[in-house]
Amino acid sequence: MTATLDFKITKTQASRLSQVDFDNLPFGTIFSDHMFTADYQQGKWQNPQIIPFGDLSLSPATSALHYGQAFFEGMKGFRQVNGKVAVFRPWKNHARFNKSANRMCMPTIPEELFLESLKELINLDRDWVPHNDNQSLYIRPVMFATEPHLGVHPSESYKYILMTCPIGAYFNKNLKVKIETRYARSCEGGVGFAKNAGNYAASLYPTTIAQQEGFDQLIWTDAKEHAYIEETGASNVMFLINNVLITPNTKETILDGVTRDSVLQLARSWGIEVQERPIPVKEIIDSLQTGKLQEAYGVGTAAIIAPISEIGYKENLYQLADPATWTLSKKITQTLNDMRKGLSHDIFSWNFII
Ligand code: COI
Repeated sequence: MTATLDFKITKTQASRLSQVDFDNLPFGTIFSDHMFTADYQQGKWQNPQIIPFGDLSLSPATSALHYGQAFFEGMKGFRQVNGKVAVFRPWKNHARFNKSANRMCMPTIPEELFLESLKELINLDRDWVPHNDNQSLYIRPVMFATEPHLGVHPSESYKYILMTCPIGAYFNKNLKVKIETRYARSCEGGVGFAKNAGNYAASLYPTTIAQQEGFDQLIWTDAKEHAYIEETGASNVMFLINNVLITPNTKETILDGVTRDSVLQLARSWGIEVQERPIPVKEIIDSLQTGKLQEAYGVGTAAIIAPISEIGYKENLYQLADPATWTLSKKITQTLNDMRKGLSHDIFSWNFII
């Protein structure tokens, strides 16, 4: 597979930046001026270019619309105190991007193309990176099948797009979550580890039911018995029990989260005991009943560290201590924030500086 890094850049004639209210940035609705696109045709990536963000023209037979050959990634860029922009661990997102591509019978993207497109796009739209605390530039790579053909087979052609959005918090409250006992997000042999669009589509119905019941999100459990914790909503999940940080081990049904890995590395570096292993639902319920569950969070790029303050299971609702009193989650959030903004030394070399 060859990639030409000779990007064509067409700048917008009318920047929308001055219309953005940076004090009010809902997630994923305000898009920066430009996007990067490339097309996969005749077995190679072609036509890499940066163009004004805008609509696409597609055949109604575009195969991604029918058979769901589509997946995405999520990264974040942060404005550093020295004015540079730091993208958090894009190398890991690139590796996961290609894992998703393989599972969905789609072409991989060379690391150079992934990183160069990121660098060029963010450089061009660097004024879109927010300055305020708790804000960042959300970076969304997406790839989808473009062949206009109704036969069920891997598409012959694909489009890769990279777009960015200035954002504030994904969740702006503590979460009330329900442990799911009927529906499943993924199963052994399935595609739970990939960020394919269909995983998110399939989560909408069970999540809507949970929301009608007064919850914000679900905690997914295994598809076979609903006896083991897997993930929460749109992120990984972690619990602090008896000062041990536990999270389900990654496997076919669980996304290998970048924030998950970063939190575990930080915790280990602080001497905190970390366990990555199957977590029985019963263990969580017992720890809630005995008051041993100290902290619980959704952990993801968009979510960052999203405190879970209430957990519903079957007929019961359990309360955790007020997240304002939690110490580990605060330390993790602060440390990640300081490293990303250049306020502390990037000891793990996680920042990709632009
Ligand atoms: C991310 O955290 O970047 C995600 O992919 C979650 C997204 C579905 C909002």
